[in-house]
Amino acid sequence: MLVQLLSAIVALYLASRLLNSRRRNVHLPPGPKPLPLLGNLLDMPKSEVHVTFRDWANIYGKDLMKVEMPGETMYVISDKKVMVDLFEGRSVIYSSKPTFTMAESSGFKNGIPLLPYDSRLKTSRRLLKQGLSPAAVRSYYPYINNRAALFLETLNEKPDDFVRHFTRMAGHTALKIAYGYEGVTEDDRLLETAIQAMEYFATVVSPGKWLVDSLPILDRLPSWFPFAQFKRIQNQSKPVVYETITRPFEEVKRHLARGTADGSLSSYLLQSEKSDPELEDAIKWAATSVFLGQFDTTTATLSWFTHAMVKHPEAQKKAQEEIDRVVGHDRLPEIEDRDSLPYVNAVLKEIFRWQPIIAMLPRASSQDDEYNGYFVPAGTYMLANIWAVLHDPEVYPEPEKFLPERHLKEGTPDPLDVAFGFGRRVCPGMQVAQSQTFETMASMLATFDLRPAKDAHGKEVMPETKGIDSLINFPVPFKCTFTPRSQAAMELVHRCAEHARSLPDRLERWSD
Ligand code: HEM
Repeated sequence: MLVQLLSAIVALYLASRLLNSRRRNVHLPPGPKPLPLLGNLLDMPKSEVHVTFRDWANIYGKDLMKVEMPGETMYVISDKKVMVDLFEGRSVIYSSKPTFTMAESSGFKNGIPLLPYDSRLKTSRRLLKQGLSPAAVRSYYPYINNRAALFLETLNEKPDDFVRHFTRMAGHTALKIAYGYEGVTEDDRLLETAIQAMEYFATVVSPGKWLVDSLPILDRLPSWFPFAQFKRIQNQSKPVVYETITRPFEEVKRHLARGTADGSLSSYLLQSEKSDPELEDAIKWAATSVFLGQFDTTTATLSWFTHAMVKHPEAQKKAQEEIDRVVGHDRLPEIEDRDSLPYVNAVLKEIFRWQPIIAMLPRASSQDDEYNGYFVPAGTYMLANIWAVLHDPEVYPEPEKFLPERHLKEGTPDPLDVAFGFGRRVCPGMQVAQSQTFETMASMLATFDLRPAKDAHGKEVMPETKGIDSLINFPVPFKCTFTPRSQAAMELVHRCAEHARSLPDRLERWSD
């Protein structure tokens, strides 16, 4: 095996030299100087790769910059116009994905975000559209509004667990949309397993982290092989992913057979699409992607929102004044209020700009192309640094500062046009995501004051603004307090939560 491995590395090196010598006449983008075999591996930072890539792009070029990894050449894009030109203008060429061998062998082979741009992907996106179109999402508004009231009640009861409450609220919504599932209790195994599956996803889909992604032959190593820690991670991940995708879906099928399924995405698609094993598998993965796509991204966004409000009381006060003036004190804000709450909407935009949840988007070209005079061979790994675009000081002055006001100025480019991706692979859940995050932010502001936690001497401790290094950008854990703004506000929360509990759209708790 070792001999095979060494031969593969040498073959890759020779092949890349041969290719480069053949390409003497073609123009490749500039980039940091690579070493033989290792490329720029030794230049790569241990954390915040997007920041280093932005710094390199300032030297080598924002449009296309070449970064070499062992066995792989990446073109990094740090300019919005180029992203739009390629991902939207030339979407036929740039809608594919690099091969993530590590993730595929960890159980995520058919996961929609990893699919190449083929007929399976097109079918999957067609299926998803039925449950996530703007019209479908509008039908979820009452559900999302009601969940916010239940969330506020739990936040008041156990404020220290706020991150967990975000996850449970988003998880409830995702389970409802994907499977019609409710009844998630404190110890619900399904949500816990899904959280674990997302942790594995974030670990195994990590551009540049796994050598096996650039040298797929390594995947043939047995798990007992020294240094084959990645094989052991794959083996731990697979059963968790299998349970996450299979268990709720099989439950929907059982409900359908008993005639008790409701209008969730999976039961609707199972009934409306023709019966075919391949299509059924695509429906299963479409439902999974709604479930997995939703709760971590929503939790991370709302965690950053809480962090921002704690650190920026002036922005919090302005948003609260707007809500008090427009919505009043007799009801909670609703998603439908978004257009009448421009400052709260600006806070939402600034969260997505200041801390984009996904900092870099991986894509792959599917045929040879040329852009700005640079040659892009088929199969090139294209990495869009959306964090760099959203932190460009020429577009967003003082980009490291949290300043919602910038979005009230005419002509400021909307960060939501970037944070959810582009073209044929744009996030299909963006309407749900924006509706739920807006509703939760506005409801929290209407009813609580968010403040820093205090130390033993009663002094406020400001959280450090730092993200954890992961596929999804979460703030490092921090403490804060949630003080009810008034007795009347809490009475309103209880009234709305009581009303939400009385609604008939609950399903029976699914059997284990
Ligand atoms: C805070 C929220 C969210 C953010 C910032 C976000 C962002 C993104 C981004 C940047 C992409 C890649 C787009 C591209 O390659 O151009 C993506 C893909 C995806 N998102 Fe989201 N997302 C969020 C919430 C959601 C939700 C709520 C769902 C499901 C209901 C979802 C489902 C998906 C799926 C299935 C894909 C893969 C699409 C494909 O590869 O064709 N996301 N998301």
